[in-house]
Amino acid sequence: MTGGRLFHWEYEPPPVEHEVFRVEGGAVLRGEVVISGAKNAALKLLAAATLTGERCRFTNVPEIEDVRVMVETLRDLGVVVDHPAPNVYEVASGDVDWLFVPLEAAAKMRASFILLGPLLARFGQVIMSNPGGDRIGRRPVNLHVDAMRALGAEIDYRNGYYFARAPGRLRGAEIRFPNVTVMGTENAMLAATLAEGRTVIRPAAQEPEVDDLIAMLRKMGADVERTAPDTIEVQGRRRLRGAEHSVIPDRIEAGTFVIAAAVTGGEVTLRGAPCDHLGAFLEVVTQMGVQVACGRDTIEVRGAPRGSGAYHAADVMTAPYPGFATDLQPPTCILLTQARGTSRVHETIFEDRLEWLGELARMGADLQVQDGHHAVIRGPSRLHGTTVEIGDLRAGASLILAALAADGTTTIRGAHHVHRGYENIEGKFVGLGARIERLAEGTVIATA
Ligand code: UD1
Repeated sequence: MTGGRLFHWEYEPPPVEHEVFRVEGGAVLRGEVVISGAKNAALKLLAAATLTGERCRFTNVPEIEDVRVMVETLRDLGVVVDHPAPNVYEVASGDVDWLFVPLEAAAKMRASFILLGPLLARFGQVIMSNPGGDRIGRRPVNLHVDAMRALGAEIDYRNGYYFARAPGRLRGAEIRFPNVTVMGTENAMLAATLAEGRTVIRPAAQEPEVDDLIAMLRKMGADVERTAPDTIEVQGRRRLRGAEHSVIPDRIEAGTFVIAAAVTGGEVTLRGAPCDHLGAFLEVVTQMGVQVACGRDTIEVRGAPRGSGAYHAADVMTAPYPGFATDLQPPTCILLTQARGTSRVHETIFEDRLEWLGELARMGADLQVQDGHHAVIRGPSRLHGTTVEIGDLRAGASLILAALAADGTTTIRGAHHVHRGYENIEGKFVGLGARIERLAEGTVIATA
C-alpha cells in the first residue's frame, strides 16, 4: 500500500445509462457466494471520517456506485480519499476547503445528506442541497434538520439549499424523533460527537449499520454508547482521531441471495453472511418452507424445486430493525409469487415501495396493489420473460430474481440502479450458474 495519491486502484464505474440485464431463466443456482460490505454502513463510515483531520482507513468497502458518488463528493470538498486496493479506502480530511454539497451529489444519492452532521460539527458551517426536493422523490429530511437545530445550529432553507451554521460549538441536547429514522439517528449522533456536553437520542434506530458506525466512532475516540435498545447517548469531545475499521457484511445483499437460491430451487452457501442480522427475514422465509442453516459466518440455503408450489403463503409487514427490513420486502415478494395461497404485504416505512410490483405483474405474477402500503400476492405463478424497467435499487435486484425464476428470457432496463448498491451482481450470479449478462442498450454514455 502506498498511502499516497500517486497510486490508486480505481474502481471502473459502469456506464450509467442505457444498460440492460438480459437474463435467461430456469438455471438452478448452486455454489458459494461471498457477501460484500454493507452499503448502508460504508457510506456513513466514509462521512464519519470528516470528523477528524487524521487519516481513517476502511476495509471491506463494497465497490458500488453509491460509494463512488460519496468518494467523489468528499474529493470535491477537498478531502483526500485514497483507494489503494479493491475494497480499501483511506480518508484524510485535514484540508476541507469547500463546505458545499451540491445538487449533483444529492440528486445521485440521497445519503449524501449524512455529511450535514459531521461537517457542521467540525467546521461550523455547510451548505447542503435538499435531496428530498421534488426532482428526486418524496423522502424528506426534516428530522435531520430538526435534530441539528436541537443541537444549536441555525439552518435557513433557500432555493433548494439548506444553509447551516453553528455559532460556536454545537451544544448537546435531548433529541426526540417522532418516528424511528436511520440516517436521522446517524446524523444526530455524528454531530453530537463534537458538540459541547451530553446528547441523548431517542428513539434511536437499532439497525446493525448504526452500531457499526458507533464502533468506528468509539475507535476514533468518541464517547458514544447505546444505553438502551432505543437510546444512544453521546458525550461530546473537542477532537477525534483517525482509526481503522472493517465494514460489516451487507444483510440486504445476503437476503437477496437467500431468495435467489429459494426461487431457483438452488443450493447456495453465503460466505461472510450476517445470520444474526437477518432474524425477522429468516423467520418468514423458513416458515414459508425454505431450508436455511446458519453457521458462524455462513448461511446455507436449500430451495424447493422451481415451480413446485411447495412454499407456503405468508403475511409480511415491514418495520424498523429488529423488524422485517423494508429493503428486503421487494426480494421477498418474488418468493411470495412462488408460494401456494394468498400472501399479504404491508409496507409501513415508505409509500412508494410497492409501485414496482406493476413490473412484476407484467412477468405473470398474480397480484394487486391495494394502496401505497398494501398489496396482495397469489401463488404459485409461473413467471415468464418479458421486458421490464427498473425504477430503483431494491426493485431492480428483485426483478433479476424474478427473471431467474421465470421461463424464457427477460430484458431488464435501467441496470445502473442495481449497481448503486450491489457489487458485481451479475458476476456473483454467473458464479452460481445463472445466465445473466449486462449489455449496452443503444448508445452507452460513459461517466466523466
Ligand atoms: C435508511 C436506508 C434505507 C432503508 C431505510 C429504512 C441508508 C442510506 N438508507 O434510509 O436503505 O430503506 O433506512 O430502513 O441507510 N423520514 C421523515 N423525515 C426525515 C427522515 C425520515 O419523515 O427527515 C421518514 C421517511 O420518509 C420514512 C421513515 O422516516 O418514512 C424512516 O426513514 P429513515 O429510517 O430515515 O430512512 P433512511 O435513513 O433515509
